[in-house]
Parts: sequence; structure tokens; C-alpha cells
Amino acid sequence: MKKIIFAIETSCDETAFSLVEAHGNLSAPKFKVVKSVIASQIPIHRPFGGVVPNLAKREHIKNLPILARKIFSEGQNANRLWKKIDLIAVTVGPGLEPALWAGITFAKELQKKLFAISHRPIALVGANHLEGHLFSFLLSKKKKAEDTKHQTPNTRHLFPAIALVVSGGHTILLKMESLTKTKKIGETRDDAAGEAFDKVARLLGLPYPGGPEIQKLAARGKRDAIPFPRPMLYHPSTGSTGSPQAGSGQRKSYDFSFSGLKTAVLYYLRDNPKANKADVAASAQEAIIDVLAQKTIRAAKEFRAKAIFLSGGVAANKALRERLKKETRKLKLAFLVPDFEYNTDNASMIAVAAYINFLKGKKYKLTARGDMNL
Ligand code: KG4
Ligand code: ZN
Repeated sequence: MKKIIFAIETSCDETAFSLVEAHGNLSAPKFKVVKSVIASQIPIHRPFGGVVPNLAKREHIKNLPILARKIFSEGQNANRLWKKIDLIAVTVGPGLEPALWAGITFAKELQKKLFAISHRPIALVGANHLEGHLFSFLLSKKKKAEDTKHQTPNTRHLFPAIALVVSGGHTILLKMESLTKTKKIGETRDDAAGEAFDKVARLLGLPYPGGPEIQKLAARGKRDAIPFPRPMLYHPSTGSTGSPQAGSGQRKSYDFSFSGLKTAVLYYLRDNPKANKADVAASAQEAIIDVLAQKTIRAAKEFRAKAIFLSGGVAANKALRERLKKETRKLKLAFLVPDFEYNTDNASMIAVAAYINFLKGKKYKLTARGDMNL
């Protein structure tokens, strides 16, 4: 049965809505993004070098009604559909709690308003932001020139799969037997991959968010110029593991650790004040990608995966996408990564996560939970 889902995302510094048509069962769900809007707060937080929670909340409260007018008034199709909304989904975690509450409060008011207009009961459900990233591969686009519509990939032949979720706050590796049977096999012990990009960028004097800035600068540098450590993997210059305590057990683990890289870049810049910044950016980016790709590929081999799914803001990194694309091609595995617009925070992925949970019968409370996990 078809469901029209209105999704709201306010966990960090993007205010986003999406209207999504979903149908199909758990073995073949299908999604069509009817309309998606995002208001980014990046310029507001940039002078502070990162996201300020109360500023984020204030901006969400300001942007939510503006964005609502935009999505509900533009376009005939959206107008017709919003009277048919069956489900409102709102991110309840993880994220910044003041920002999450802004979305939850708005969702509750919207539920009342829509009921007054349509006179039909409209369900309101909480969604997990990380499940949104995880399932965002279902928003991948078919690469046929004549087909510009979003088409959900056929999931029948993709499992078991390995999923890598890499965002500003999380780095998680999962084994997936199906859309509902997932098991976390590794995660970061300190900084997330996106955080590593952001911190290295700050050391290089680049603005927030650092990932896209590092990518730009790295394009002019040599990725093998500086042998930065590959934490939890090995140290390229010595052939040994990244930290003094790290034995071969750590090399085999699927956990990650990125805080040492930031320190290595800090010391390198202190000892080499005339360093070529593009080489530093390219070498640091390569160190992050190398660890992410090697662990993901090793997991895919160990668990005889048929596919690898890549998601989260760092999935927008071209070098990471290229590396995993090349490696999966060698191993004849499917590689699914959403289009760029669905890598960083958006509400379409929240609608997808809400639909999967609706099919599973899983419910999240409408309470902000900053530390929610997968
Ligand atoms: O998923 P996301 O939008 O927000 C969170 O849920 O955290 O991820 C944001 C993170 C930031 O750390 C940002 O620097 C990183 O994703 N990022 C990138 C790129 N674009 C965004 N990192 C590397 N390369 C990129 N092109
Ligand atoms: Zn995110």
C-alpha cells in the first residue's frame, strides 16, 4: 500500500523537509521523492568554527515555517499530495537536543494543522538520523541517461552487505543480512571521520565544514607526500600499527580511531612551517580514506558480502567514492552510494527510515535523544 510521508530533519545545522511516496514491502521497498527542501545554516556557524547548539535551535525555529510555506505552496503536485499525507516523520536523534526539539515541536503542531484540513488521522513517528543515512542507498538513482527520476535499487540480490556510515558525528561499519537484520561490527573509538576532516581543515586554516574544503585543496596536492599514520591499521612509514599500544588484535578489529591523525597533522605543521598545505590535505585525506576503505573491504571479504553501501556526509568525498568503486569492481561486488544531495543531511532519508520502521512495526518515542545510536 502506498504511503505519503512528510519528513522533518533538524538534528544539526540543516533544516529540511521532504515529501516522499513510499510503497512495497521489506524485500522490495520503493521510494519517490516528490519534493525536498533544505535551508543550510553553515554561514551562520562558520565564524564559530563549528555548530553552536542554541544558535542552531534559533535558526531552525525561524526557518521551519519559512520552509513549510515553500514546500506547501510551490508546485501543483506537492499541493495535491499534502492533503494526502499519511505519516509525518521527524528525527528524534542522534543530534543536538535543542535542535531536535525544534523539529519535534514543529511536527506536533503540523500534525494538528493537517488533521484540521484533511479530517483524517495522520500518524506522527520519530526517526533515527543514523538509520536515515544507513538506508539512504535506497535513494540511489539509476544511471540511465533517459531516466532522471529517482529509482529505488532492487534489494533482492544485495544481501549480505557491508554498510559504512560516515558522518560528522559517527563512523560505523555494519553487516546487513537484510534491511531489518543488521549488526554493528565496528565504530570509531574517538573522532568520527567527518570530525577528522573538520579538525584537519581547522589546523590548515580552512573554514567549517572542513570535508569539502580538504577535498578541494587535496586536488592540488600529492596524496603520498606525507606518510600520516593509518590509525587502527598500520603506520605506513614503519609498517607497524598506528599506536604504540596497538597490537595485531587492533589491526584485525573493525573499530576506527581518528584522533591520532589530527595530532600527527598538528605536529607536522608545527615542525614544517613552510609545508605545502595542498600536500598535507591530500595526505591526510588519503590516510582517512585508506583506513575506511581497507576495513570495509576486509569486512566484505570476511562476510562474503554481495554489496557495499556507503552513506553519511563523508560519502560525498569523491576520492572515497572512487576508491570504493574501484575496489568493489575488482571484487565484483555491487557498490551503492546515494546521489550527492542525499549524502549530507536531508529529510528524504528520514522518510525512508520511517517507512522501513513502519513496515517493521518499530516505533521511536517523540523525545529528543542526542546520544541515540544504531
Ligand atoms: O552526515 P552529515 O551531513 O552530518 C552529520 O550527521 O554529522 O556529515 C557532515 C560531515 C562533516 O564533518 C563534513 O565535513 C563532512 O561530512 N563532509 C565531507 C565532505 N562533505 C561533507 N567530508 C569529506 N569530503 C567531503 N566532500
Ligand atoms: Zn547526518
